[in-house]
Amino acid sequence: MTNGIRIAPSVLAADLTRLAEQVRLVLAGGADWLHVDVMDGRFVPNLTFGANMVAALRQLTDKPIDVHLMVEEPEHYIAAMADAGASVLTFHPEATIHVQRHLDTVKKRDMLAGLALNPASPLALVEDVLDDVDLLLIMTVNPGYGGQSYLPGSTDKIRRARALLTAQGSRAFLEVDGGITTETIAEAHVAGADTFVAGIAVFGSADPGREVAELRRRCLVAV
Ligand code: DX5
Ligand code: ZN
Repeated sequence: MTNGIRIAPSVLAADLTRLAEQVRLVLAGGADWLHVDVMDGRFVPNLTFGANMVAALRQLTDKPIDVHLMVEEPEHYIAAMADAGASVLTFHPEATIHVQRHLDTVKKRDMLAGLALNPASPLALVEDVLDDVDLLLIMTVNPGYGGQSYLPGSTDKIRRARALLTAQGSRAFLEVDGGITTETIAEAHVAGADTFVAGIAVFGSADPGREVAELRRRCLVAV
């Protein structure tokens, strides 16, 4: 069973010269969460934002800020992200050793704790800690850059992830990230995803607010 639908525009694709205006547009269009991609140039080749971006967005909205850490040793960033006002903190189990301990630390700082899996990483990596997970993020591209195409093999993985959550009685959000557009979102939703990150589809559009609404509509008519 999915928990409704959430659309989370990724500010990675926003025009940073007018960030506040772009954020207002997507919130007016019904964006549920704002997604922030933190990249360290090590876990992924690219380098992006830190806690200062989260703090800036926090001044613009009370909506949940969904932070996606694509960094080595994400445990070093938990406190700073909590202080900056993050609501959901997701990290990659591929990037650290004591995953369960770090999930616990995230929750102790009053954030939802998420785990993200690269396309090549098996669901077995999260299976034993699912009870401690508030959100499971299935990467539908290899992380590092916006504007890539949805990997077709993702749909089957989303289906298997949904089955795993159901089998374990988990109510965790099932999020997808990468190449989500009006063309791909329905397929991911039907497979079981309930939370959708979209970068270029939203901010590359002439009307970002309308695009958020359209992404939601595509989900609603698909089921
Ligand atoms: C990719 C990031 C994504 C990215 C998605 O490494 O994790 O959140 O912003 O961008 P689009 O929707 O453009 O593929
Ligand atoms: Zn992301």
